[in-house]
Amino acid sequence: MQRLNKPDLLSARKRTKNQVNTIEYENFKNIKDIGKDRSYIIQTHGCQANEADTEVIRGLLEDQGFTPVSVLEEADLVVINTCAIRENAENKVFGELGRLKSFKRLNPNMIIAIAGCMPQEEAVVEKIMKKYSHVDIVFGTHNVNKFIEYLDYVIREKKQLIEVYSKEGEIIEHLPQVRQNRFKAWVNIMFGCDEFCTYCIVPYTRGKERSRNKEYIIEEIKDLIKDGYKEVTLLGQNVNSYGLDFVEEKYDFADLLEDLAKLDIPRIKFTTSHPKDFSDSLIDVIAKYPNIMPFIHLPVQSGSNEILKRMNRKYTKEEYLALVNRIYNRIPHVSLTTDIIVGFPGESENDFEETLDLVRKSRFEGAYTFIYSPRKGTPAASYKDTVDPEVAKQRLYKLNDLINEGFLAGNKRFENKVVKVLVEGYSKTNKGVLSGYTENNKLVNFKGPESLIGKIIDIHIEKAKTWSLDGEVVQ
Ligand code: 5AD
Ligand code: SF4
Repeated sequence: MQRLNKPDLLSARKRTKNQVNTIEYENFKNIKDIGKDRSYIIQTHGCQANEADTEVIRGLLEDQGFTPVSVLEEADLVVINTCAIRENAENKVFGELGRLKSFKRLNPNMIIAIAGCMPQEEAVVEKIMKKYSHVDIVFGTHNVNKFIEYLDYVIREKKQLIEVYSKEGEIIEHLPQVRQNRFKAWVNIMFGCDEFCTYCIVPYTRGKERSRNKEYIIEEIKDLIKDGYKEVTLLGQNVNSYGLDFVEEKYDFADLLEDLAKLDIPRIKFTTSHPKDFSDSLIDVIAKYPNIMPFIHLPVQSGSNEILKRMNRKYTKEEYLALVNRIYNRIPHVSLTTDIIVGFPGESENDFEETLDLVRKSRFEGAYTFIYSPRKGTPAASYKDTVDPEVAKQRLYKLNDLINEGFLAGNKRFENKVVKVLVEGYSKTNKGVLSGYTENNKLVNFKGPESLIGKIIDIHIEKAKTWSLDGEVVQ
């Protein structure tokens, strides 16, 4: 019989006050080497939380002997780690699933697994069951650790397995991981989100907010330092509420950041911050430690108070601007970036003007901008006063022009200055030059020997372009 456990967005919405337990990962003692003669490939969509989950999936697979390959045609196992944040992210995955059908015809032993946020939605699972029966395994964000068990079942039984939990479980520590970068690492500090912004599916797909114990985070970063890592990015949907779920301990994100800054890691970044929780003590910690990068991603979503209220963002335009000013006053060299949604239901021309005004006043040096995409099961999906798609598109273009001006202005301020760059490798667009990021997260291209890769070096910036800087190594 097919194994089936479907998701349910309504129960995913429920929250308890209990702090979740932490357990250690246990190996599958009775499953061994199921990947010995098998190859795998993973496609990752979406945010850094998915990137981090993919590294765990790789860890689990390679522990079982699976070998990574880089082209679909050669893979015995295809995993798609999916994103549910907007409709076009989901459409891409359905397109890919259609394409995989023909691959499977050529290689009937190919196993196809769908992971991540999309399986947490019942409509997606129904669609997969009806239209994409060639998918072998469907699992969600709360049971990544069980993937090997599911693979073993599918290999033995040759039946479809759909196993999605709508409620989060324990925090599992010491999961195996294969990291994708040798110098920069993602480190989850928490999981889930309790904000329930009315447009957003994430609180449903990733469960309630759970913070990792600081001891595990510190241990992980100490190991990364030993392995030669130069940069860690602390991950959470809302890192500023780190620790608020601890029952016995009073220990928040500012405390954690300060403890981590005292370790010997050259660069610490974090994402994403919710403006409503960004405390003055956090600003002080960022200002105090040179190894906390002066780069803050601070999603605002809209500049209109009416829209912010309907989005359930819990701050006003004035409060946001006051926060931005406090940050600039305390950390004058900081770079701020943001996320903005246009075309949210009820957004008038006036509301949109408020957004443009906020963008001008905030001096953002970059932004991810989106047209609102209704997500089934979220409150905003039933708001009636939708914005004409053509109007939303025109607003997006106008907003992007303004954002790009800020991007260029942000880059220009580094012209003729010397900046520190963590050299990552050869440029993706020009194999003849090296590239890396500055402390303010600016992309720099420059000529130099391969031996610089993995080092933090001084670069003199010669020219600022909209998306990158050109520089020369300081001898
Ligand atoms: N439609 C458009 N954009 C969205 N985001 C989240 N949900 C939606 C949606 N339904 C955007 C927000 C968030 C970013 C990760 O994605 O701007 O900050
Ligand atoms: Fe979504 Fe809001 Fe949570 Fe960010 S803070 S993940 S936008 S609900």
